[in-house]
Amino acid sequence: MKRFVLCVTGASGVCYAKRLFDCLKSNAELHVIVSERGAELLNLELGLKASYFTGENVTAYKNSRINTSVASGSFPVDAVIVIPASMGTIGRIASGVSETLIERVADVTLKEKRKLIVVPRETPFSTIHLKNLITLDQAGALIMPASPGFYQEQKSMDDLIDFMVARIMDQIGVAQELMPPYKS
Ligand SMILES: Cc1cc2nc3c(=O)[nH]c(=O)nc-3n(C[C@H](O)[C@H](O)[C@H](O)COP(=O)(O)O)c2cc1C
Repeated sequence: MKRFVLCVTGASGVCYAKRLFDCLKSNAELHVIVSERGAELLNLELGLKASYFTGENVTAYKNSRINTSVASGSFPVDAVIVIPASMGTIGRIASGVSETLIERVADVTLKEKRKLIVVPRETPFSTIHLKNLITLDQAGALIMPASPGFYQEQKSMDDLIDFMVARIMDQIGVAQELMPPYKS
């Protein structure tokens, strides 16, 4: 079983995190961290509590509790996905702040040269946001903005969410049938 860490932060678009979690929970080992603001967005946008992220293969952590195995480089993971990623969290990762568990896990993932996927959601971007995204890109992270395409007959919001989740699953090497490869 592949092992992933899902980090949910306080940007709009927590629906992407929920859908990715639902698609992975039965076929991967999942470690989930929800920031305090992420929990607020879950409630605001989906009417869910952070306790939604539970299951047989799922371990949930408090973002304030950094003293956990998942915060260590000796805990190998296949990928860490920050979804959605707030500009606040992105800025703190980019500047090497490792105060919360999410920041520490991202920091460790970069230093261990493992896969870090960041799914930012903000518009417009300021110069500071863009510089932080470039810093993360240069440090080895994969930036996958929450900007679904509209060219595969998407009809509903669920289709748009699936577009993003499918692209992320492609990146972490999990087979998906949400969205076929594009054919003209
Ligand atoms: C309703 C609401 C929506 C927000 N949406 C975004 C967003 O889309 N992108 C973003 O970067 N920040 C957004 N924020 C601001 C972040 O939640 C805020 O910067 C927070 O401190 C991020 O904390 P975290 O990164 O620890 O989760 C939003 C805040 C609120 C209250």
